[in-house]
Amino acid sequence: KEHIEKVAQFQSTSAQEIEAFRIEYLGKKGLLNQFFAAFKSVPNEQKKDFGLAVNALKNAAEEKVNALKAVLENQQLAKGIYGDLSRPGEPIAIGARHPISIVKNQIIDIFSRIGFNVSEGPEIEDDWHNFTALNLPEYHPARDMQDTFFIQTNPDILLRTHTSSVQVRYMESNKPPIRTISPGRVYRNEAISARSHCFFHQVEGLYIDKNVSFADLKQTLQYFTTEMFGKSKIRLRPSYFPFTEPSAEVDVYWGLETETDYKMTKGTGWLEIMGCGMVDPNVLENCGIDSKTYSGFAFGMGIDRIALLLHQISDIRLLSENDVRFLEQFKSAF
Ligand code: PHE
Repeated sequence: KEHIEKVAQFQSTSAQEIEAFRIEYLGKKGLLNQFFAAFKSVPNEQKKDFGLAVNALKNAAEEKVNALKAVLENQQLAKGIYGDLSRPGEPIAIGARHPISIVKNQIIDIFSRIGFNVSEGPEIEDDWHNFTALNLPEYHPARDMQDTFFIQTNPDILLRTHTSSVQVRYMESNKPPIRTISPGRVYRNEAISARSHCFFHQVEGLYIDKNVSFADLKQTLQYFTTEMFGKSKIRLRPSYFPFTEPSAEVDVYWGLETETDYKMTKGTGWLEIMGCGMVDPNVLENCGIDSKTYSGFAFGMGIDRIALLLHQISDIRLLSENDVRFLEQFKSAF
């Protein structure tokens, strides 16, 4: 009885005091356990009253503790996040930029300094924008160069095989002068290995104005490789693309310092980074631009390869596996 009185009177808003109270009554060695232990030695005729009294005390103590804790919690909630300024802060996990994004942003930075804007197009394309407008009519053998993932045939809907489709879209809706780069993901039905994947990333570049020459293209590439790699030795190899004439492939001299350099450059020290050329007049006309007044150049480079080399990553598949042990390594990269 005396204890029930005490329990009823107990009041506190201090977490420590409430806990001490709980231990005193309900703890392992608390009063209630002592009473329960004493139950054996209570004379039989008093057992019932004793039992009732102890149970009442137990309930009262439990209710009291719960009620006081609830009051305390409400008070803390009401104070909000600024309530207890002495509480230790919770660490915020900071992510890292993906190496593809790091390299893409660098490329965008470099070209925006010489007046290029950024444009984008859809990854799911139609035949016109991915092939036909780019001077690759149906049954053109060069279509086989690109192992296309078709979503639907006749009319053809596909996963774009290159970002050159964005050139077409941009020229269809913008008048020259045009200076734009178009980063994005592209898809090709290729066997997946350490060096190639069925999707990867490109940045397309397009420059259309009056009197644009091949020398302008070469100088732009020279500027880019110096800014991007800190190395300016490049070579242009004659090549073929249906949408450019003349066409070239661009290699940058990277060197052979590490095993990754060796693998990525096939032991030559030269890395092929892009295809380029003067936009074919047919393409300009297909997109509503007068090829007698305007000329221009285009290029398309692979981001993944550049990322592998710059960050010495030995397997392209690491870029899409989302392994945090890999991704975390780019925390300090930008
Ligand atoms: N679209 C070509 C490819 O994916 C690259 C390229 C772009 C070549 C623009 C010339 C001009 O291989």
